[in-house]
Amino acid sequence: MNTSEPQIPERFFLPLQIIAERLQDSGIDWAITGSLGWALQGIPVEIHDIDLQTDEAGAVRMEELLSEFSRQKLYRRISERLQSHFAVLEISRITVEIMGALQKRLENGQWEPAVDIRLHRRWVGYHNMRLPVLSLEYEHRAYNQMGRTEKAHLLEPYLHIGKNTMTEPKDHHGAEDTSQEQYPNETMRLLMQRASLRSFSSKPVPADVLRLILDAGNHAASGGNLQPWSVIKIQSPETRHWLAECCQQGFIEAAPVSLIFCIDFHRLKRWADLETGPFTADHSFRHFWIAFQDTIIAAQNTCTAADAMGLGSVYIGTIMEFMPDLQEKLKLPQGVIPVVLVCLGYPKNAPVPRKKLGVDALVHEETYHELDDDALLAAFNEKYSDRSFQITPERLETIEKVCLEAHGHEFADRCIAHIKEAGTINPVIHYFGLHYLANEMPMDNPKFLQILQDCGIYWMKEFQKKDH
Ligand SMILES: Cc1cc2nc3c(=O)[nH]c(=O)nc-3n(C[C@H](O)[C@H](O)[C@H](O)COP(=O)(O)O)c2cc1C
Repeated sequence: MNTSEPQIPERFFLPLQIIAERLQDSGIDWAITGSLGWALQGIPVEIHDIDLQTDEAGAVRMEELLSEFSRQKLYRRISERLQSHFAVLEISRITVEIMGALQKRLENGQWEPAVDIRLHRRWVGYHNMRLPVLSLEYEHRAYNQMGRTEKAHLLEPYLHIGKNTMTEPKDHHGAEDTSQEQYPNETMRLLMQRASLRSFSSKPVPADVLRLILDAGNHAASGGNLQPWSVIKIQSPETRHWLAECCQQGFIEAAPVSLIFCIDFHRLKRWADLETGPFTADHSFRHFWIAFQDTIIAAQNTCTAADAMGLGSVYIGTIMEFMPDLQEKLKLPQGVIPVVLVCLGYPKNAPVPRKKLGVDALVHEETYHELDDDALLAAFNEKYSDRSFQITPERLETIEKVCLEAHGHEFADRCIAHIKEAGTINPVIHYFGLHYLANEMPMDNPKFLQILQDCGIYWMKEFQKKDH
C-alpha cells in the first residue's frame, strides 16, 4: 500500500479543509471529482480547481452551507455532453464547482440517469482529512461513455493500481488510523486521539492556516462574552530560543509557533476609560477567576483547531516561573498576565495518546460519590499500569525530606516503609515526592501573589470604595 501523502499544492489545503468540515455531518452524499480527485488517488496531474459532485438536493444544501463563498448561484447548466445543477464558489482564491445530479449524454444521444455518488466513491486520506473521491474506475468508464477517450486513456496506466494507490484515512497526526469505526465522526476521533506534541517538523505553518486556527480560538465561550485575554504570537527564532532556555524545554524552539495566552484586563480597562465606564475587574477575584477560565478555554479551542488542521500542540505551564521576564520581553502592560504557553507546529512523529482515568472515575451521577478504596486504586493502577520508578538512595533521600517537611516524621517513616515494602516508587509518590515537590509548592504562594500585583491584579488587596 502506498501510504505517502498525495502531491497536492498547499493552496488547496485550506479550501479542502473548509469544505470537508462544512460537509462532514451534513448528510450530503458528495465526492471530489476531476483532476483533484485523480491527484488524491495518487495520479500526478495538474490541478486548477476543485470539482464536487453530488445530487440535486446536495447541491442546494452545499450552496447554503458554503454560501459566503458563492460566485455563481446554482442554475441548471446544459451543454452538449453534460447537464447538472451547477454553482461556482471561490474559497481562498480557489475556484470550486458544484455539480448536482450530473447527467452525461451517451453516444446514442440519450441522457444517462443521474450519477449515484454513493456507488462510485471511495475515501482517501489527506493530511487530517478523510475525503470522498469518485473512483478511477468510474471516471474511466464515464469518459469512455461520453466519447472522451483521450481522457480515459490518461487514466489507464493507473487503473491496475486502483485500490492500491488509495491512501488510507490517517489520524490527525499522520499515523495510519485503524480505528475508523470506533468514532461517530471526525471531531470525536480528533478529541479521543488527541495527545501533546513535542516533536515538531520544520515545516512552517502557512499564515492563513495559523490565522484560521487563532480565529477558532477567538470563538471560544467567555464569561459575559468579554473575551478578557490576549495571545502573543511568537515566530521569531530568537524569542523561541529564549523561551526554550527559560522553560528549559528544548522542543519549544523547534516548534515554529509559540502562543502565549494572557489574561488581559488592560484592553477592557482602556475601553472603560475611553467610554467613561466604571471598571474594577482588576480588583475583583470573581473577574480574575472567570478570566483565567476564559483564557484557558480559548487556548484549548486553539489547540483543537490546530489538531483539526493537521498540526499538533503542547501546553507549557512553566512560564509562570519567569513572569517578570516575560512582561519585560513581550512588553506586556499592567493588567496583562501570562497564563500558559502553547507550542504549535506540524508533527515530526505522531504522539501516542496517553492513558486517562475513565469516565467512571471522573463522572458522578447527580451528586458526588466516593469511589471505594479498591475502585479508586484500581482506576489509578489501570492508568499508570506501565509506570513505576526505581528506588535509588538519592530518590529515597529526597522523598524522605519532602515528606518530613510537608507532613512530619511519622508520615515520612510510613512513606519510606511503603516504598521499601513495594520495592518500587509508585506514581503518586513520584509525582509529589520527586517532581512537584509537596514541601516546596505551597511556599511560593506569597511570591506569586506579589507577581500578580506587579502585573496589575489587586484582588488580594482590600478595595476602597469612594465616598460620595
Ligand atoms: C496547564 C498545562 C501545563 C503543561 N505544562 C507542560 C510543560 O511545561 N511541559 C510539557 O512538556 N508538557 C506540559 N503540559 C502537557 C502535559 O504534560 C500533558 O497534557 C499530560 O502529560 C497529558 O498528556 P497528553 O496531553 O498527551 O494527553 C502541560 C499541560 C497543561 C494542561
